Amino acid sequence: MRENEPMITESDQEIIMDVRDIKKYYPVARGSFSKGKKKTLKALDGVSLKIKKGEIFGIVGESGCGKSTLGRAMLRLFDITDGQVIFQGQDITHFSRRQMKNYRRDMQMIFQNPYSSFNPKLKIGTSLREVGQVYGMSQEKTGEKIRELLDYIHLPEDMLVRSPGELSGGQLQRLAIARALILDPSFIVADEPVSALDVSVQAQILNLITDLRKKMGMTMLFISHEMTVVEHICDQVAVMYLGKVMEVAPTKVLFKNLLHPYTQALMSAIPKADPEANTQRIMLEGDIPNAIDLPLGCRFASRCRFCTEECKKVSPQLTDVGDGHFVACHRYKEGGKS
Ligand SMILES: Nc1ncnc2c1ncn2[C@@H]1O[C@H](COP(=O)(O)OP(=O)(O)O)[C@@H](O)[C@H]1O
Ligand code: SF4
Ligand SMILES: [Mg+2]
Repeated sequence: MRENEPMITESDQEIIMDVRDIKKYYPVARGSFSKGKKKTLKALDGVSLKIKKGEIFGIVGESGCGKSTLGRAMLRLFDITDGQVIFQGQDITHFSRRQMKNYRRDMQMIFQNPYSSFNPKLKIGTSLREVGQVYGMSQEKTGEKIRELLDYIHLPEDMLVRSPGELSGGQLQRLAIARALILDPSFIVADEPVSALDVSVQAQILNLITDLRKKMGMTMLFISHEMTVVEHICDQVAVMYLGKVMEVAPTKVLFKNLLHPYTQALMSAIPKADPEANTQRIMLEGDIPNAIDLPLGCRFASRCRFCTEECKKVSPQLTDVGDGHFVACHRYKEGGKS
């Protein structure tokens, strides 16, 4: 290496998406009680995550906790309130719409509802070819790529002449995944891609994503509200609650030892095949605070069965408890799991 060359370590090179303490606040007017005073909804309230190349990174949490906002912030679909978004080593936080244009083809999104992600008036083939056209890919190359992807998603070529209305949700979601891959993006946000599908079809789509990752080595932020879904497919999982990460770890480490009381409650809310085993369910008690009037201390305090006076006053920070496992709860101290 030459003397003045910047040193890039292997771990830096591997990071595709790096968000640092990002915040997304929305001003909200709150009816007559607030006497017209403006309040702030903290959809994201200081989230930091790093996603490595080739990794499927899961985000899990109840509806309204900020999962979609996080995915969209990573793709810079809006301006964030504070923090940094670093994509492939480039700080894109303040990029204009025009600057972002160069990055758009590299960042794709898959949505929850496959029926609304295709124009019902266009044949599937037209919708898929449009993606290539927009980014100046030749017709020949686009056609080749579409055929390759149809093979990967196990659908026949006659799909291309069908209309979205003629296809099932599962078939359409396969095609939406293929469409997101036409341009070989380096990063994909999949926002609850199986939540609108029947359980039997969900498993097929999850297996398909696992397969495609092996074949294409894609990097993905995978959003879900179900613990079992992220366990099945993700390499790392972050659990979110009201705009903050409560716990994050490699999937195997996390599911071996769920530490945060919220994560435990999310997991125990899943009905078990054996109803006898259900007697240990932890119910989520208390009111869910909203992201407007957040409590001073731990934001989970009003629903936590372990809440102490400290929890009501001091907001816990994400703490390293070893093995890449981080948890934001006063019950856990640095370097230890209890
Ligand atoms: N454009 C917006 N304006 C105001 N509030 C918003 C907007 N988008 C999202 N929110 C609020 O931000 C919070 C997080 O929303 P979202 O990211 O969609 O949650 P999730 O995807 O986890 O269900 C919610 O309280 C939601 O109502
Ligand atoms: S910090 Fe306290 S209230 Fe919050 S999750 Fe931990 S024990 Fe519960
Ligand atoms: Mg959402």
